[in-house]
Amino acid sequence: MLFEPIRLREVTARNRIVISPMCQYSATDGHVTDWHLVHLGKFAQGGAGIVMMEATAVEKRGRITHGDTGIWDDAHVQGLRRIVEFLKSQGAVPAIQLGHAGRKASMARPWYGNGPLTQADLDRGDKPWSIVAPSEKSLGEGWLSPRAFKAGDFDVVLNAFRQAARRAHAAGFEVAELHGAHGYLLHSFLSPISNDRTDQYGGSLENRMRFPLEVAKAVREAWPAGKPLFMRCSSIDDVEGGWTLEDTVLFSKQLKSVGVDVVDCSSGGILGSATAAAKTTIKREPGFQLPFAERVRKEAGLMTMAVGLILSGKQAEEALQAGRADLIAIGRDALYDPNWPLHAARELGVDPEYALWPHQYGWWLTRRQPLLDKAGIKR
Ligand SMILES: Cc1cc2nc3c(=O)[nH]c(=O)nc-3n(C[C@H](O)[C@H](O)[C@H](O)COP(=O)(O)O)c2cc1C
Repeated sequence: MLFEPIRLREVTARNRIVISPMCQYSATDGHVTDWHLVHLGKFAQGGAGIVMMEATAVEKRGRITHGDTGIWDDAHVQGLRRIVEFLKSQGAVPAIQLGHAGRKASMARPWYGNGPLTQADLDRGDKPWSIVAPSEKSLGEGWLSPRAFKAGDFDVVLNAFRQAARRAHAAGFEVAELHGAHGYLLHSFLSPISNDRTDQYGGSLENRMRFPLEVAKAVREAWPAGKPLFMRCSSIDDVEGGWTLEDTVLFSKQLKSVGVDVVDCSSGGILGSATAAAKTTIKREPGFQLPFAERVRKEAGLMTMAVGLILSGKQAEEALQAGRADLIAIGRDALYDPNWPLHAARELGVDPEYALWPHQYGWWLTRRQPLLDKAGIKR
């Protein structure tokens, strides 16, 4: 199943492998650079069905760091279009994750500490900026305190998401994903850990879901009907008193009713990093988030994407065969091996002739193969 094409609205991906969105913290004032073209381009050459661009900020103040990519200005479209065109030329579906960092905005790039901006960052020219969130609660000791959303803020941010969808379409992206996970703005509305509002956007589950659903609805209306819309969720906060898998199932049913096609089932991040080996009750072992994708798929009745320590073609294939997900996202293992999809195809025996490889490479590799076979070397 991994290498069977999948149709999502009017878009067909050549297989079910998605390169997970991964921030590179390497943009200049939101503009992509050649780094992004090569970084994403090699995954398209590597055979992925869908290549998803990193969390791209819909508002300047919604960047995680000074190095985040942005889509808050029409001037960002040109650079994005160049990437889209290359991804398409290599047979991949170009996708973009639209994000707003909320209270996790204005922090240091990972390699400069991944925490609040310090004097050393200031000396580099990376100054902090004012941030917004559902409540004034900061991420923790030493972090910036956000300003709580006021009446006018909802429309401003909704409109930023709408405009971002319009620009993503103009750049030629075929899939859009809303970043509703990892403690960023939309997730911080959902979770009782970060949302203690007392108006219609806080308190009950229904109220906490209201703004993320308004965003999903607004983007669905601004995004062409033929193009699929995904939402990434933190399926659980894994924090006492936090967002639960039951909440994700209910939220997913609502997402389905506003026209979201796929729920991308991640987890964590409400109080810190989603990828670090934080204190979690769920053991970080291969496929640890698969049960979330499975439960949402079965109970909410919409397509899911599984992500998190999926490391081999066999593991991905088994998850699909067992009906646990419809799409498989590969993150860090694609950094380790940009040709992950092509290697998985070899592993699963679906590409004995290197037919899926770019012909610039495949032509040579087929001719080398008998030599390797003779020497007993496996590739
Ligand atoms: C360098 C890096 C950047 C990331 N940036 C994002 C991002 O922009 N948006 C997001 O939703 N997740 C982001 N993540 C999380 C990944 O998309 C993925 O969910 C996570 O790494 C788990 O999958 P893996 O075990 O296959 O890496 C990032 C992860 C890494 C390693």
